[in-house]
Amino acid sequence: MPFRFSDTVLGMKPSEIREMNKIATTPGMISLGGGMPGPESFPKKELTDIMVYVMENYGDQAMQYGNTLGISYAIKAISEMLGKTEGFTPDISQIIVNSGSQQGLYELATVLANPGDTIITEEPTYVGAISAFSGNRLRMEGVEMDSHGMIVEKLEPLIKKLESEGRTPRFIYTIPTFQNPTGYTMGEERRKHLLEIAESHGIPVVEDNPYGKLRYYGKEVKTMRSMKGGENVIYLGTFSKVMTPGLRLGYTVAPVEVMEKFNLIKQALDLATNSFSQFVAYEYIKRGIIYKQIQENIRIYTKKRDAMVESLRENFQGRGVWSEPDGGMFSWLTLNSGADTKLMKEKAIKNGVAYVSGQAFSTYGGQKSSMRLNFTFGSVDQIREGVGRLGKITGE
Ligand SMILES: Cc1ncc(COP(=O)(O)O)c(C=O)c1O
Repeated sequence: MPFRFSDTVLGMKPSEIREMNKIATTPGMISLGGGMPGPESFPKKELTDIMVYVMENYGDQAMQYGNTLGISYAIKAISEMLGKTEGFTPDISQIIVNSGSQQGLYELATVLANPGDTIITEEPTYVGAISAFSGNRLRMEGVEMDSHGMIVEKLEPLIKKLESEGRTPRFIYTIPTFQNPTGYTMGEERRKHLLEIAESHGIPVVEDNPYGKLRYYGKEVKTMRSMKGGENVIYLGTFSKVMTPGLRLGYTVAPVEVMEKFNLIKQALDLATNSFSQFVAYEYIKRGIIYKQIQENIRIYTKKRDAMVESLRENFQGRGVWSEPDGGMFSWLTLNSGADTKLMKEKAIKNGVAYVSGQAFSTYGGQKSSMRLNFTFGSVDQIREGVGRLGKITGE
């Protein structure tokens, strides 16, 4: 039968990242591509104990459908955890637990905008956000970045231009700390300025913060949600990088009137998030394991980040510019030669190294001579070897 597909799905491209998961398991391949945590960072022993405990003590609820916004134990624990780690303690009525923060992105695109509406992101931005937004047929306008994150001075002229064209942006999406894909962090002054501009134009701000706790160097910068004037910021968090992405658990914090709308969309998407995972996260927080695991991940990833930065210095001096992030999971490399990294990918894979091309993160098909390099998945030796292989093939 000749199936007819929607304009929405016909307008979507397969993500380079999902391909990556296949490539990463090819024998001999060094993957600097996907944004995966190191498998050694998973607290398997602690999670096994918790899972048995949950089945024995909360089995009936953990195996049952849960509330659409989340299991109340998990919601309370998330609120307390945010108070300890992010500087704000939202009311429990302001939290929804999602199947990963990826689902939160999809929900907000559906709730805050109509197909054809315009939103503002950083340029480049997270490829999964591009999927969620283009999956809702939103038009993205990117604001250029430098090593201190979004160049906020360019935000207001863009908003004014869009307003004059009758395309007032429906929200501003930012990953201010250890941004995916660049690794850049926005300083406090720029955050303040962004909040002021958004407030004066009546545009909601969405702060996506999966990496904030993975800081290896430098001083912490306040989350925008915790800053003065940040009370209405819609905040996305996740357990993927501080527990495991396998349990698919994220959360959104938003004002109650927005939460009511998330509730409606969530019912349509999957009724509720996995109850079992939520009980596991509840115990994981209650026992304080999350705080120890953050420290453990920092220990593991600092070495890997250093290996990445040192290898980039050894292999790309004078041939490229790259970020040396204080945290998170990625370095962003731009080749001076202007070579197209998407075209170069096949050669890289033949030579046993994978990355994601810059174009995958662009809102307009730019970033052609950049690539995102992940430093959390591989071992220190693999990172050194992988960057060495990249150095060779880009030098040929
Ligand atoms: C910026 C950003 N937002 C959201 C996500 C989605 O995370 P998850 O759905 O695993 O919570 C990721 C994952 O890599 C990310 O980098």
